[in-house]
Amino acid sequence: MRYSAPRGTQDVLPRDIEKWRRVEHHVRRVCELYGYEEIRTPIFEQTELFVRGIGEVTDIVEKEMYTFPDKRGRSMTLRPEGTAPVARAFIEHNMFSEPQPVKLYYIGPMFRYERPQAGRQRQFSQFGIEAFGSGDAVLDAEIIDLAYTLYRDLGLNNCIARVNTIGCPACRPRYNEHIRNVLSSDLEQLCPNCRSRYDRNPMRILDCKTESCRTIAAKVGPIWGFLCTECAEHFSSLQDSLRAMSVPFELDPTIVRGFDYYTRTVFEFMASGIGAQDAIGGGGRYDGLIESCGGPPTPGVGFAAGIDRLLLAIEASGAAQESQRTLGCFVAAVGEGARLGAARLVASLRRLGVSADMDYMDRSLRAQMRHADRYRARIVAILGEDELRAGTLQVKDMNDGKQWEVSLEGAADEIRAFLQSAREQ
Ligand code: HAM
Repeated sequence: MRYSAPRGTQDVLPRDIEKWRRVEHHVRRVCELYGYEEIRTPIFEQTELFVRGIGEVTDIVEKEMYTFPDKRGRSMTLRPEGTAPVARAFIEHNMFSEPQPVKLYYIGPMFRYERPQAGRQRQFSQFGIEAFGSGDAVLDAEIIDLAYTLYRDLGLNNCIARVNTIGCPACRPRYNEHIRNVLSSDLEQLCPNCRSRYDRNPMRILDCKTESCRTIAAKVGPIWGFLCTECAEHFSSLQDSLRAMSVPFELDPTIVRGFDYYTRTVFEFMASGIGAQDAIGGGGRYDGLIESCGGPPTPGVGFAAGIDRLLLAIEASGAAQESQRTLGCFVAAVGEGARLGAARLVASLRRLGVSADMDYMDRSLRAQMRHADRYRARIVAILGEDELRAGTLQVKDMNDGKQWEVSLEGAADEIRAFLQSAREQ
């Protein structure tokens, strides 16, 4: 019996880990630059949270959740996204009594039972930010700016935010009515999914990926003329703020997003060259979410990006950086006594903060030197029985091949000093 990772999941192997860390490092750096603090929430939550938060008539809640009863028969769900859990934590920990806005970020695995393909997995890693407590459109712009800055930092230079508004519960029903009127004669031509959306959530027809539905939906036109005064002002203030911050964006009336919690601002970022799953991030405002999860009326806005997809986009754009394991010092030992000396030196080097390693496979000296090369060791320290007796050690700089002798006693300090001055040069 050979086991394999479940369909739609993947192992991130050591040879790829550096790419992941690089993205995570940039995420943390940029988030902290913008004043967001990290929050970690559980991998699973009560199912009800997602049903209420994300909305019953959404692909995620209808078809894609990993839901299971726990031992007491309570329904639990592996989180399909991070916004509802963070909203739950905001309420549970009374964060509305802290100075507002409360600005949070997270990185972690999410789970959706979707049909796997390039860039779409059942377990994927997402980073997200959420800002609670302010309805100011400048905050929406800040979030789009943060996303834009992150993409650029990662070498994705051609990312443009596609921005829209979906109004609020006061003005959206008029637009939904308009969509139903315009599409009533085309109902038979829509895909089965859109036909069922027609009654329940017609706005979602606008972001159907099916070509024939897209052609039909193009007749609908933007929501902009249907907005109430407050939503129209908010949308215009968002655009002014983006221009003031020099964030490139284009208006796209087909961006409506797949969650019921959104109000007003919605946006997405696409990447080219990574196939059909080209959304590398998306978000929007959700002024009713906290209340619908049982908290006091509190506005909020956020964004999330899939790290797996970001890595594909980085690869496709040619911005990927070769990363290889490196080592400060490899200690090559020949002979039984020397091995003990090597173990002592490796331990001392590590205590001094120098990455160090040695041979554990009884290799010949030549094979150990090859091994040190594979590890990209900057220095190899060679210790044989003769050196051990003389209390010395040969040190070789792998960059220029120079070799010299040092006393065994002071070797760790000397190697550390050498590596430090080499780094400073
Ligand atoms: P979302 O658009 O569903 O939004 O997901 C955000 C990003 O996660 C997508 O743009 C994509 O990059 C990535 N993603 C989604 N599903 C998959 C998948 N199956 N495999 C790989 N990557 C995937 C949200 O999740 C909202 N919570 C965003 C948000 C935060 N809105 C406000 N605050």
